[in-house]
Amino acid sequence: MKKIILTGDRATGKLHLGHYAGSILSRLKLQNEGNYDEMYIMIADAQALTDNFDNPQKVRDNVLEIALLYLACGIDPSKVTIFVQSQIPALTELTFYYMNLVTLSRLLRNPTVKNEIKLRGFDESIPSGFLNYPVSQTADITAFSANIVPVGDDQLPMIEQAREIVHSFNRIYGDTLVEMDAVLPDTKTARRLPGIDGKAKMSKSLGNCIYLDDSNEDIKKKVMQMYTDPDHVKVSDPGKVEGNVVFTYLDVFCKDEDFEKYLPEYHNLDELKDHYQNGGLGDVTIKKFLTSILCDVISPIREKRQELINNLDYVLDVLKEGTKKANLKANETLKMVRKNMGIDYFDNPNFLQEMQEKFKEN
Ligand code: TRP
Repeated sequence: MKKIILTGDRATGKLHLGHYAGSILSRLKLQNEGNYDEMYIMIADAQALTDNFDNPQKVRDNVLEIALLYLACGIDPSKVTIFVQSQIPALTELTFYYMNLVTLSRLLRNPTVKNEIKLRGFDESIPSGFLNYPVSQTADITAFSANIVPVGDDQLPMIEQAREIVHSFNRIYGDTLVEMDAVLPDTKTARRLPGIDGKAKMSKSLGNCIYLDDSNEDIKKKVMQMYTDPDHVKVSDPGKVEGNVVFTYLDVFCKDEDFEKYLPEYHNLDELKDHYQNGGLGDVTIKKFLTSILCDVISPIREKRQELINNLDYVLDVLKEGTKKANLKANETLKMVRKNMGIDYFDNPNFLQEMQEKFKEN
């Protein structure tokens, strides 16, 4: 079976270090290993509109912003098809047919959706489009026959629901859609990078993000504010590593070479952690170290992004080309879906004959 990878991001804000650790790094790894037949990354603007329908400018502003960052991070459009969800009409049509296969109570039971309804204060007035976004996400995945879907763990309920829809569809209309599996990022910390305040998630609304276009000055300021161990008051005090944001980030981003470069008194992270835990290592030292590492990660992305801002027509072309390719693929799936659902009246030469026979019988 072909290996087809599909992921996406809602077009609701710029990407930050949490996205980088949680998804972009693993996409780059997949892209560079090249162990797949097709790979798609979708900018989910239509899904973003399900809870931002009253703020279309926000979605519009973030389509190129996200594309810029993909390219700045090293996503290579010659290896990966980057496309815009709303420009693929087959996705909305598939969504409409899949909606028949899901009950309202099943949609309301989706834990991620439930949580989002609470966060957004929808209460009793849930827009039906919003409630259905897991169905539309099923269309996103199945339209490309994607069987590998790299996502964060908050997306597991979406994949579970998608698999149910695939099973129902194939049972009722015959084998048509490909079943998918979620793939989670490999280390536990990278799955959900905490914000600089130590809160569970880096999120724009919490104001605890490091952005992929932050200046070195911004990065330094943010790292200096980072939550460490409140009981580590004096340098000589023993410090805790668990829940200490600086170490959580070091776990994700630090390489042994960084010690040689910036902190040659140590050889690796274990040595640094030991010293911190035994006492005698100050927060400023570890924060300076992390600052250097993060500046090395972010500076090239920020510079590449700036270069691309001066070539926005190129970025738009990448999206246009990717979307063209994606439409061809999604339309193939739609054609098969229509055929198997029996709504292919004008494309199926047998339809006329079939009806003529039927009318004769009656
Ligand atoms: N819901 C996903 C998120 O918020 C974005 C998304 C939309 C997606 N369609 C998808 C992810 C299809 C994977 C596959 O991150």
